[in-house]
Amino acid sequence: MALQTLLVFLGVFLLVADYMRRRKPRNFPPSPFPLPFLGHILTMDFGDPIQAAQQLSEKYGDVFSLHVGSMSCVFVSGFQMVKEVLVNQGENFLDRPDLPFDVAVFNGGGLTSSNGHTWKQQRRFTLSTLRNFGLGKRSLEERIQEESRYLVDAIGEEQGHPFDPHFKVNNAVSNIICSVTFGNRFEYSNEHFQKLLQLLDKLVILHGHPAIQLYNFFPGILKYLPGPHQTVSKIWKLLESFVRDMIAKHKEDRQPSESRDFIDSYLQEMAKDDRGGCFREENLVACTLDLFFAGTETTSTTIRWALLYMATYPEIQARVQAEIDAVVGQSRQPALEDRASMPYTNAVIHEVQRISNIIPFGVPRMASRDVMLGGFLLPKGTMLMLNFTSVLFDKKEWATPDAFNPEHFLKDGQFCRREAFLPFSLGKRACLGEQLARAELFLFFTALLQKFTFRPPADAAPSLRARLGITRHPRPYRICALPR
Ligand code: HEM
Ligand SMILES: *[C@@H]1O[C@H](CO)[C@@H](O)[C@H](O)[C@H]1NC(C)=O
Repeated sequence: MALQTLLVFLGVFLLVADYMRRRKPRNFPPSPFPLPFLGHILTMDFGDPIQAAQQLSEKYGDVFSLHVGSMSCVFVSGFQMVKEVLVNQGENFLDRPDLPFDVAVFNGGGLTSSNGHTWKQQRRFTLSTLRNFGLGKRSLEERIQEESRYLVDAIGEEQGHPFDPHFKVNNAVSNIICSVTFGNRFEYSNEHFQKLLQLLDKLVILHGHPAIQLYNFFPGILKYLPGPHQTVSKIWKLLESFVRDMIAKHKEDRQPSESRDFIDSYLQEMAKDDRGGCFREENLVACTLDLFFAGTETTSTTIRWALLYMATYPEIQARVQAEIDAVVGQSRQPALEDRASMPYTNAVIHEVQRISNIIPFGVPRMASRDVMLGGFLLPKGTMLMLNFTSVLFDKKEWATPDAFNPEHFLKDGQFCRREAFLPFSLGKRACLGEQLARAELFLFFTALLQKFTFRPPADAAPSLRARLGITRHPRPYRICALPR
């Protein structure tokens, strides 16, 4: 009897404690009624979170919340409200939340998951260093053009037979950020580097696994259990040790007065920063890992989408090729200067980015103080996810949001910028690599279409269905690159 009473008492106590812990201000964004302890875990369809949230955003509007485990998250949709967060009230939402994986890997350092003073310093330093290497004796443009030649050669070796372009494109794109950060590129035949790229890819896919999302909600328990989150931790450790090796080599053979790349510049900065500033070895590791990861996966995924769309829409591909032939011809490589005279190609690249929507919820943000948003109170520390899908596919902004239609970015034959085009996000914490990424997309894409026509293999129609991991990327596919 006494034991039963005790159990009932304990049960009631836990429920009340859970309720108290979960309690939010009265005008917090609305959410469905949560289960005790688990919150909205059943509401989240992990296989397809975008689909699962559909009814919620229809029912609750542009700002609503979900609570799972120890985490609360506010979802923000619609161009006006997203712009409110990123631009109008941008100063209040510059921070990132402490997600368990980010904490384990980056520990509040680096570029993507740092906050406050550390973030500001690292970001300013990285932007100016990227700019220096862009303007140095070998410009970024030249590096990309050179890499395009390697990529064209490697794809030419397939002789028009069906092949999976994934790791060649990955390697080519990665080589650009590698040459800036480490000072060298890697041959596509380098097994060690190919293995690293495959690990990176596995990481991207695994992050879409339900267990990984659960880990973010219940890190305390799952830390001790086996599962894919352990594989993810292991891969991050391997990538980190790759970066640490690179840094160690630089320390051995660098000339303190000379800088060959990002790591050298950072080591110089560390030598100057002797008063406990944030230029420390751990931040160098985190920044380098950030650049390597962000600079490889996103741009490569976009190019893989672009090839798939070209194979699916041959008449659009033919118009791009006609423009390349008219402006560049076949005897020289495309250059950034050509972009202004190639409105159609530019529009196609923008439309690929819009429709492939590779980061559908942006990178999470956090309120850095108590903030009012759309009439709701978001206490300091509230995590926000921005619904980029709702902007990139908004019926009010785009004539045919669900169709691949380069006309979205054309007006009277001229390229036309669109405000609701925000794959790189907006405001002070928008993508740090936007300029680099746009240069890579233009130069790689035009170099490939100058030399090849992309077609689906005879036996298989290409699928435009996506898989969701860290990015929304194409399912593995094979394609034919017919020499022109
Ligand atoms: C098509 C290519 C790319 C897309 C679509 C993309 C998109 C994004 C987005 C949406 C964010 C989050 C911004 C925010 O929170 O508002 C971001 C952040 C970031 N991106 Fe990119 N990115 C691309 C390429 C690159 C490249 C090539 C680099 C390499 C330099 C890069 C480096 C970064 C970094 C370091 C951040 C974190 C910035 C910060 O927190 O301050 N990105 N990117
Ligand atoms: C995001 O926006 C899309 C398109 O408007 C909508 O279908 C989806 O339910 C939204 N998701 C969330 C989590 O708000």
